[in-house]
Amino acid sequence: MSKNHQKVVLVGDGQVGSAYAYALVQQGLAEELAIVNLSKEHAEGDALDLEDATVFTAPKQVYQADYNACADADLVVICAGAAQKPGETRLDLVEKNLKIMEQITKSIMATGFDGILLLATNPVDILTYAVQKISGLPTNRVISSGTSLDSARLRIALAKKLEVSPLDISANIMAEHGDSEFAAYSSATVGGKPLLQICEERGISNDELLKIEDDVRHKAYEIINRKGFTAYGVATCIMRITRAILRDENAVLPVGAYVDGEYGIKDNYLGTPAVINASGVSKVIEVPLNERESEAMAKSSEALKKVATDGMT
Ligand code: 2OP
Repeated sequence: MSKNHQKVVLVGDGQVGSAYAYALVQQGLAEELAIVNLSKEHAEGDALDLEDATVFTAPKQVYQADYNACADADLVVICAGAAQKPGETRLDLVEKNLKIMEQITKSIMATGFDGILLLATNPVDILTYAVQKISGLPTNRVISSGTSLDSARLRIALAKKLEVSPLDISANIMAEHGDSEFAAYSSATVGGKPLLQICEERGISNDELLKIEDDVRHKAYEIINRKGFTAYGVATCIMRITRAILRDENAVLPVGAYVDGEYGIKDNYLGTPAVINASGVSKVIEVPLNERESEAMAKSSEALKKVATDGMT
């Protein structure tokens, strides 16, 4: 995908989609951004608004479109669907959003689309699994935001605790983007030094680390309770994944990737670090897990499989 003209189609111009489009424009990514939305008028308004921003960023076409725009797109990003309301979990959205994803995927594939699909709609792991099956696209070309946001939240929390920049912390939240996720602390490092060793030296207890993990797991609820939705965090994460794809970066990012054998898990979508380039997920990085983490991984995968099977029958 090293051609000069790259085209992204955004499906779903709600809070997340709109923030993503803005992030894309700000980063000067893709020469063409087509916005498909249920309310055509809203997408037209957003496209006109974003077009004004391109004057100060990079020349770019931003316009409202229908699904036909997907035919020659390099990347289609799906942010459509119902979002969590206060008190709802991500898994509560499965029935509603599965139906929406099925219809969207069929509309995209009917155009002859042959690029990469990136999903952010919740429950993102289950929906990505379904979308890959419905689309028939190779598993490496169907990716989700997965635990990218949760891992960013973990790095921010650890950065505050340790008083180091989050940029210098390598730490992943893994498995479900949701309530059964876990922090892979045993492989986390700060400037190359094992995080657990640093915590021991600084007297940071295991309980404190588990509290951080729990706070990260609940951060979306904290945001939703205050402002009704979350948008900037996840939008920036999917922008980051987009950049890795469009610029063929080989970046190692926590995403939602298809696992089939890694971690002893077969045929599922889960949050794990992976190498991201123009082919999508070029490789899953199988992080070494300790006993607690291995168990959490298996449990989370089973929980997702159960909801997926119930939701799809
Ligand atoms: C988030 O974690 C709600 O999945 C969304 O911000």
